[in-house]
Amino acid sequence: MRKLIANGTVVTASETFKADVWLNDDKVEAITAPVGTLPKDRVPQFDETIDAKGQFLFPGGIDVHTHLDMPFGGTTSSDDFETGTRAAAYGGTTTIIDFAIQQKGGTLTEALDTWHKKASGKAVADYAFHMIATDLPPARLEEMKRIVDEGVTSFKLFMAYPNVLLLDDQSIFRGMLRAGELGALICMHAETGLPIDVLIERARSRGERAPVYHALTRPEAAEATGTERAIALAEMAKVPVYIVHLSAARALERVREARDRGLPAFAETCPQYLFLSQDDLARPGFDGAAYICTPPLRPQHHHEQLWRGIRNHDLQVVATDHCPFCMKDQKELGRDDFSKVPNGMPGVESRMYLLWEAVQQGKIDLNRFVDISSTTPSKIFGMYGKKGTLAVGADADIVVWDPQKEVTLSVKTMHMKVDYNPYEGKKVRGGPSHVLQRGRVIVKNDQFLARPGDGQFIRRRTHTL
Ligand code: URP
Ligand code: ZN
Ligand code: ZN
Repeated sequence: MRKLIANGTVVTASETFKADVWLNDDKVEAITAPVGTLPKDRVPQFDETIDAKGQFLFPGGIDVHTHLDMPFGGTTSSDDFETGTRAAAYGGTTTIIDFAIQQKGGTLTEALDTWHKKASGKAVADYAFHMIATDLPPARLEEMKRIVDEGVTSFKLFMAYPNVLLLDDQSIFRGMLRAGELGALICMHAETGLPIDVLIERARSRGERAPVYHALTRPEAAEATGTERAIALAEMAKVPVYIVHLSAARALERVREARDRGLPAFAETCPQYLFLSQDDLARPGFDGAAYICTPPLRPQHHHEQLWRGIRNHDLQVVATDHCPFCMKDQKELGRDDFSKVPNGMPGVESRMYLLWEAVQQGKIDLNRFVDISSTTPSKIFGMYGKKGTLAVGADADIVVWDPQKEVTLSVKTMHMKVDYNPYEGKKVRGGPSHVLQRGRVIVKNDQFLARPGDGQFIRRRTHTL
């Protein structure tokens, strides 16, 4: 089956040029001058043509940080693999990396099997997994190889959430050494969690229970010291490290210093840290609970530092940490106590719209937009060549992006299975007219054309960072 996407402007992480793109089944077959200008005998018969005049062609978005169907805080994130990946595709994201979670005392293999069962037959977009390791005795360190051999080549470790997910420094260090042997990447939740719990305890005892205390008990200093410690441990272990959901200027300084010293330290931030702020957590009554995620939203002045970090390549990735909980029945679990509000926010569908707005505002250019949302995530997480660029031989995951499309970010217009939208009512200009996954049109002018189970599991390579 041959398709032609004609008259569009191709954007990659490094170039912008007008071209026609030929697809043959699931792959990009050729990128050429307009077929009308080519000798007729060089042009094959196409089964379908998409006219992309006036539109951009991007590689499908890659969101390397989602939590679908994840048990957390006494409940389960409200999007499962079907609804979450459908919403992702509507927003121009064709591949996600979700997190399998090892039960304390359980094996990594059990966790991976559980997450395969959650995703298989349901996902509509392509998906891969990271492994959250919560317990790393010698047998589990040994088992990490089996997980890497299954194509799960990154492990998330936590410095926060004592008694739940936190790993002590010795276990973290052993995990890093083992990851180094296997060519796997350590992703770190880098907040120093033990003092945070003391701050939470003290706030609660003073009756400080409103959502804004979530931010006030998780100060920037806790993230800065966590980031510094994660990088120092990785330096001692001589391995690369990837800091997830970086939210604050001082944490970014730690990453920048490490990179300036030549260390392989990488970091992602998320749209909520670029577009929302602590003021949202301070909304009246319980409304701020909608904005409880970890690390917390920071005061507005952090935004400019993070944008600068993106422009300077100190931040390489913008992922979402999509972890939705409905206000009703879920966030409400913490109505009288911020520390009982399940942590997390929806975002998998809105990421590309928001980053596009940043292009329009001149915060980043078109190529950097593609780089942070697709190309570099693909490179860091072992998918490049197949995913993350628009090139001959790559998977034909393509977003046809209409810069004139008007979209209102709202719970009414979007497809995430959650009863609020953090950007409710925000109007943006620019969005996908068509989303193709491996050559198949899965979104066409707001019509959804894929079926549950169409998404494929992506086995990722070990890294060469
Ligand atoms: O609030 C968040 N981020 N929830 C998901 C868990 C995590 O730490 O990524
Ligand atoms: Zn985290
Ligand atoms: Zn997360």
